[in-house]
Amino acid sequence: MAFKLLASLLALAALSNAALIKKATCADGRTTANAACCVLFPILDDIQENLFDGGECGEEVHESLRLTFHDAIGFSPALFKQGKFGGGGADGSIITFDTIETPFHANGGIDEIVDAQKPFVAKHNISAGDFIQFAGAIGVSNCPGAPRLEFRLGRPDAKQPSPDLLVPEPFDDVTKILNRFADAGFSSDEVVALLASHTIAAADHVDETIPGTPFDSTPNVFDSQFFIETQLKGTLFPGTAGNQGEALSPLHGEIRLQSDGDLARDSRTACEWQSFVNNQSKLQRAFKAAMAKLAVTGQDTRKLIDCSDVIPVPKALTGKAHFPAGFSKADVDQACAATPFPTLPTDPGPVTSVPPVPPS
Ligand code: HEM
Ligand SMILES: *[C@@H]1O[C@H](CO)[C@@H](O)[C@H](O)[C@H]1NC(C)=O
Ligand SMILES: *[C@@H]1O[C@H](CO)[C@@H](O)[C@H](O)[C@H]1NC(C)=O
Repeated sequence: MAFKLLASLLALAALSNAALIKKATCADGRTTANAACCVLFPILDDIQENLFDGGECGEEVHESLRLTFHDAIGFSPALFKQGKFGGGGADGSIITFDTIETPFHANGGIDEIVDAQKPFVAKHNISAGDFIQFAGAIGVSNCPGAPRLEFRLGRPDAKQPSPDLLVPEPFDDVTKILNRFADAGFSSDEVVALLASHTIAAADHVDETIPGTPFDSTPNVFDSQFFIETQLKGTLFPGTAGNQGEALSPLHGEIRLQSDGDLARDSRTACEWQSFVNNQSKLQRAFKAAMAKLAVTGQDTRKLIDCSDVIPVPKALTGKAHFPAGFSKADVDQACAATPFPTLPTDPGPVTSVPPVPPS
């Protein structure tokens, strides 16, 4: 009986697989699972050529990924429960109502990528909410070592701006950060996974004297160096001291957010943080799953079409997890009580300084 059921279930699975394999061929000859996704190919080409300078993993990609978060996290069931408007999540309101949202304190610097993306939204037949998540997924695919992110199409236009104070600040404590994410539907493990984004990231405005200062030594590669380097003892400020939301960094040319340093050391998040140090496939899987959730925050997923196969497949990582030159396990602030820090090789040569991410 159980066997018969299994057999018919397998037959059913084969049938639906066959249905999925029948792909739509678009006007330019490229194929996708759903004909409704064909509209995305010309937009993809335009983004790669004219927003990401021919498919780089550079500043605009980093900023576009940050934008996916700052749009989506504008969603608060707690506010709705109080009878207030809690935001539409990943609805493009940060572009549609940019004059209201970009001046929010936590959105410092986001106006640059909003201004860069706006003409693309105007030119193509796509909602601002879809465009932000689409550009973020394409951008991440330009970074070696990244997972291929999902993309769903069909977010309606935002009707109202997000309320202020929903985007976390680097000077918020861990409890405040985890509570804000929990309100939006994310567990502490998912918060750690989402912060993998800071492996392809830099800060322009935490210390205004050193724009483009990265959070790890490899800001153009989606690797685990961010999780390694945030766990090293902090000894210096790469620029000036006394900036709000900044913690001591281990490396010249690298900046550490107070929030990242704290999350790496808090008992609620430290072991998950450390688990990404030497497990690239876990890092990819967890980031992909958490980003899929982030990208549809506040949206009715039943009305969205899965166009994930339009997103390019990222290149594999070539380097291996390592301590930067001059560092070893002795420099680690061990925070996970349950598991020792993984053994890693040290880059050869003298201690180096991390160069800034060039503006592009
Ligand atoms: C605890 C939560 C978070 C805090 C406090 C935080 C804070 C920050 C800050 C202060 C910056 C530097 C901005 C600047 O000065 O230019 C930054 C950059 C960035 N953040 Fe976050 N972030 C958080 C979570 C996230 C998440 C969930 C994502 C994406 C999924 C993300 C993606 C990025 C990226 C890609 C950049 C680099 C932007 C660039 O290089 O231009 N962040 N973040
Ligand atoms: C724009 O896209 C919508 C679906 O999002 C479609 O119904 C409409 O026909 C499109 N308009 C043009 C001019 O292509
Ligand atoms: C990597 O993470 C997975 C869980 O996602 C785990 O099963 C596996 O043992 C980990 N591998 C290593 C080498 O730690």
